Amino acid sequence: METIRQLDEMQARALALRTEGKRIVFVPTMGYLHEGHLSLVRAARNHGEVVVLSIFVNPIQFGAGEDFASYPRDLSRDSALAAEAGVDIIFAPEASQMYPAGYATSVHVEGITETLCGASRPGHFDGVTTVVSKLFGIVQPHSALFGMKDFQQLAVIRRMTVDLNLPIEIIGMPIVREADGLALSSRNKYLTPHLHQQALCLQDAIRMATDTALKGEKDAAAIIALVQQRIQQEGDTRIDYIQICNAKTLQEVTQIDVDAVLLLAVHFGPTRLIDNHYLLTPFN
Ligand code: PAF
Repeated sequence: METIRQLDEMQARALALRTEGKRIVFVPTMGYLHEGHLSLVRAARNHGEVVVLSIFVNPIQFGAGEDFASYPRDLSRDSALAAEAGVDIIFAPEASQMYPAGYATSVHVEGITETLCGASRPGHFDGVTTVVSKLFGIVQPHSALFGMKDFQQLAVIRRMTVDLNLPIEIIGMPIVREADGLALSSRNKYLTPHLHQQALCLQDAIRMATDTALKGEKDAAAIIALVQQRIQQEGDTRIDYIQICNAKTLQEVTQIDVDAVLLLAVHFGPTRLIDNHYLLTPFN
């Protein structure tokens, strides 16, 4: 495995690989790799010959007062994990190369970025779509893998890729959970044991909601009320949103059908966690 820090070196390598007829598969990350990222890398191996993993804590997708400065960073730990999982190239640029003086362009997807995480993190998705389109231009992948934990992010990136006619296959991969069921996130590292224990209410709530929907409850408001009640049992949590949306449009729905997905964002102490699940799919 090699690590490339220079943007033009990465782009030149990608173009050379394409000329040789190699399929490039891309896993974009902000580092501090966990099993969720590593499962994307292992899946990536089935989609092409060269797996590129980017590690870049993208400053422009963090709002004021968010955790950009404290976001966990450890390139040597990440390199060891990436090599073991089968990454061929780590691309880890500096922010000064990605956004040099005079940088002036932003990518904005309308319609599905204003709700859910977009409502509480204004500008976040512009930061994501801008960096992902830059990374696509640099890494020149044939396909790219994203985790479904960031459900809205995946929908926004799919929209952008279609709208900008980018010849890149976007592959969404299932959420990977810790043994106790908490969805894996680099931010889980911030949780104290007490907050971690509290955060397990997310998967309890999802399980209750799914069981209820599978037993025939069709009323989205009734299911949201159950979820809210379960999360509020934990006392000092702060709910950002609990919504049931159509998976394709991300519009809220009133009736449960096969495309209905429950989306949650809840603060546990200073840490905001997100999770989601299709309501008519059993939750194990
Ligand atoms: O999901 C993430 O880790 C980031 O939002 C991404 C896609 C790497 C863009 O910075």
